[in-house]
Amino acid sequence: MAGVNIENLSKTYTIHDQEIKALSNINLTIKDGSFVTLVGKSGSGKTTLLRLLCGLEQITKGHISFLAPEKERATGKERISIVFQEPRLMPWLTVQENMALPLIKEKDRQQVSQTVAHFLDLLGLKKFKDAYPSQISGGMAQRVALGRTLCYDPDIILMDEPLGALDAFTRKNLQTELIDIFLLEKKTIIFVTHDVDEAVFLGQRVVIFDGGSIIEDVPVPLDYPRDPLSQNFFQIREQILRTITGK
Ligand SMILES: Nc1ncnc2c1ncn2[C@@H]1O[C@H](COP(=O)(O)OP(=O)(O)OP(=O)(O)O)[C@@H](O)[C@H]1O
Ligand SMILES: [Mg+2]
Repeated sequence: MAGVNIENLSKTYTIHDQEIKALSNINLTIKDGSFVTLVGKSGSGKTTLLRLLCGLEQITKGHISFLAPEKERATGKERISIVFQEPRLMPWLTVQENMALPLIKEKDRQQVSQTVAHFLDLLGLKKFKDAYPSQISGGMAQRVALGRTLCYDPDIILMDEPLGALDAFTRKNLQTELIDIFLLEKKTIIFVTHDVDEAVFLGQRVVIFDGGSIIEDVPVPLDYPRDPLSQNFFQIREQILRTITGK
C-alpha cells in the first residue's frame, strides 16, 4: 500500500526552443487506499502528472514521494502501474497470457495461474481466457488491461481515461466493477477522466486542473455505490462543472 505526496511539482516541455509549461507548482497529497479522480480541460496537464508519477517523464522542478502506512515504510520502490485509454494488449497472446505478462519472472507458476484465475473471475472474463485480443470486444479488452494491472498487484494504479473509448452501457458497467475492485483490493487509484459524472461517481475526491495548475480539490463524501440522480450527487457535479467552465 502507498499514497503519494507531490510538492511544488512543475514540468516544462520544450518544442523547437519554445517552452511549454505543462504543470506549474502542483501540491497534492493522496492517502494510501484512496480513489482520486482528476478532471480538467484538454491540455490542462492531467496526463503529464500521471506520466511523472510513474516515471515515464522527468521532473523539471519539485518532488514526488511515496507514503506508506505507519506500519510499513515507503521504500521508493512502490509498485505503480498505468492503464491507458486504449488497452495495449499483445495481439499474439491470449487473454490469460496477456494478464499473466507482468508475472513472467515469477517462479511459482501455480501461484501465477491462481492469481490470473482470480482476476479472470472478478472481471467476468473466464469464458474468454483463451481468446485473442482480436476476438474480444473493446470493453472486454479494457477489462483485460485492468486485469493485467491487477495481476501485477501495484500499490498505486494510474488510469488515463481508461473508459473513454467505450459505449455508455459498457462504461457504466465497468465503473461499477471498478468500485467493487477498489473496495475489495484497497488500492490507491488515480483516475483521469473528461466526464464529470464519472469523476463524481468514482472519486472520493475530484481534483480539478486548469492550465497546468490545480484550481480546486472537491471532496465527495458519498457512500458507494452512488446514485447519480441524488441531490447530493447533483450538487457536487454542478459545483465541479461551474469551476471547470468558470461560470
Ligand atoms: N511529450 C510532450 N512534448 C511536448 N509537449 C507536451 C508533451 N506532452 C504534453 N505536452 C504539452 O503539455 C500540456 C499538457 O498536456 P497533457 O497531455 O498533460 O494534458 P491533458 O490534461 O492530459 O489533456 P487531454 O485531456 O487532452 O488528454 C499540453 O500543452 C501539451 O501540449
Ligand atoms: Mg491526457
